[in-house]
Amino acid sequence: MIIVVSVGGSVLARALSPEKFKNYAAAIKEISKKNTVFIVTGGGQVARDYIGVARELGADEATCDLIGIELTRLNSRLLIAALGDNAYYEPPINYKEAKNASLSGKIVVMGGVTPGQTTDAVSAVLAEYTGADLLINATAIDGVYTSDPKKNRDAKKFDSMTPQQLIEIVMKTEMVAGANSPVDLLAAKIIERSNIKTIVLNGEDPKNIVDAAGGKHKGTVIEK
Ligand code: UTP
Repeated sequence: MIIVVSVGGSVLARALSPEKFKNYAAAIKEISKKNTVFIVTGGGQVARDYIGVARELGADEATCDLIGIELTRLNSRLLIAALGDNAYYEPPINYKEAKNASLSGKIVVMGGVTPGQTTDAVSAVLAEYTGADLLINATAIDGVYTSDPKKNRDAKKFDSMTPQQLIEIVMKTEMVAGANSPVDLLAAKIIERSNIKTIVLNGEDPKNIVDAAGGKHKGTVIEK
């Protein structure tokens, strides 16, 4: 199978620790034994801190995004360091480069590509472009809920849902200021237009990714 894994910066690098990257590298190596693997790393709190400072300094939003992209790529570099010779040596800067890099037979790790979106969208487009069989979104919550579970105690988790349902949930969540959507709207639209089988799961424990690649998971599966 071809598998694209989006690892939220909030799970990979909430606080920078070599252990976290080592554990992730071990899990990714495991799934790469039987699959072609692409990893997209998020920026996490460090990206938010940099963006916050840039904004206070008067930088426009596109500039803030470009700074965020640099931070996602730094996390890619740390994961590449942890993967050693198993990974392609450089994070690709676009989708074509990523596809070419994958011809090396190595695990490809990349970050953001263009302002105005997040790495959720990068992973969805990459899954589309590489004809991936599975997109795994490893995030800070354990699936997609009817509403933000941190704000609403009655929120219920979906075991499975259609891409259309995902779009409806994401639009509802994104309209509430400060809410954390499980994936961004652009990613949801891309998942829908190409019917990409997607699993949203808790990425705190990278073993969950290995299980999902093997067909077992406790997250939310999105498919028609
Ligand atoms: P993330 O994908 O980490 O954003 O990219 P996020 O969803 O806010 O954070 P996580 O999932 O909790 O880690 C960090 C920032 O980089 C910029 C955006 O500003 C984003 O908020 N970015 C990222 C882009 O502008 N374009 C991209 O393709 C990717």
